[in-house]
Amino acid sequence: MRILVCPPDHFDVDYVINPWMEGQIGRIDVARARSQWESLFEDVSATASVESIAPRERSPDMCFTANAGLLESGRVLPARFRMPERSGEEAPFAEWFENAGFEIAEPSGNDPFEGEGDALFQPGEPLLWAGYGVRTALETHIALSSLFDVEVVSLRLVDPRFYHLDTCFAPLPGGRLIYYPAAFDRRSRTEIESRIPAERRLAVSDIDAMNFACNTLRVGDRLFMNAATDALRDVLATWDFETRIHRVDEFLKAGGGVKCLSLLLEQPDFDRNGASRPSPIRSAQIQLRGHLLDAGLLRRGLDVVTEANGSFRVDALDLAERKDQESHAMLHVVAPSEEDLDEIVEGLVELGAEPTKIR
Ligand code: ARG
Repeated sequence: MRILVCPPDHFDVDYVINPWMEGQIGRIDVARARSQWESLFEDVSATASVESIAPRERSPDMCFTANAGLLESGRVLPARFRMPERSGEEAPFAEWFENAGFEIAEPSGNDPFEGEGDALFQPGEPLLWAGYGVRTALETHIALSSLFDVEVVSLRLVDPRFYHLDTCFAPLPGGRLIYYPAAFDRRSRTEIESRIPAERRLAVSDIDAMNFACNTLRVGDRLFMNAATDALRDVLATWDFETRIHRVDEFLKAGGGVKCLSLLLEQPDFDRNGASRPSPIRSAQIQLRGHLLDAGLLRRGLDVVTEANGSFRVDALDLAERKDQESHAMLHVVAPSEEDLDEIVEGLVELGAEPTKIR
């Protein structure tokens, strides 16, 4: 197993882009962070090949290499960070991938993608779980499915503390999984439950979730994580996993745990079974016109989208200066399935929207 890490030489909390970072600016004990990181990766190195990228000044989150991209079979889809604070990491990571001989895929649009932080393979299966709703755009899941030629299951994250999929979800070999159900919406929980039978999935407690237990790096049958209750360790032991605890609480102040600090450069082999899997995700361009603010039309329209599992981007917003004039908004709406998109379009048409282009 090859993994990529980045020494925390410039690690700090300089800005706030997730709830864990609130109140932590300037509060990192740099020496302590360094020693936590070193003891973790010394232990990981015993069973994995750990490669390292040079840290970049003024990129305090660069140690969270999981966000750099998603790699499989020598190919990488590099990250496009939603947060401008982290966009400076894109070029050095892409350069590293190129020098290491990976084939770099160019995404078609500009949609955010935060790497393995939001995209995790079910080990040994042609199945990729992908998060959306906070950082990575739902539309990026279309690219993931065609690029890696796997089924992509889109999971919506609804709790801002669990803003990346890897903070609350860890697929394990043998079709197993640990996850924190409250971090997902109802449709996503149903997707998970319909694919992983109850005896193979473990819903972690609030305590384990808050301690980033799901943010685990697996090497063989070892699971490296920040903390685990005895109850969690016991279940993992019956599944034949050895839990290895390494406190990384300095990194938790930035919203990252053990998995965030590591990027898999290869995935366990799986069989694609020759089947190609078209993505079920659909999008449409929709114009909303009228008294968008006075009549609360915009808010109601956006609720229609999210209530039907969709996601949106506002491509244009033209607000009228006077109450007697109409405003206009151009929305790019994306939904996990054709039915969801139909429901959204119907709901928006009822509000007086004009769908202008449907794909
Ligand atoms: N401060 C970083 C951010 O908000 C933490 C990233 C954690 N990485 C992860 N894979 N969950 O982007």
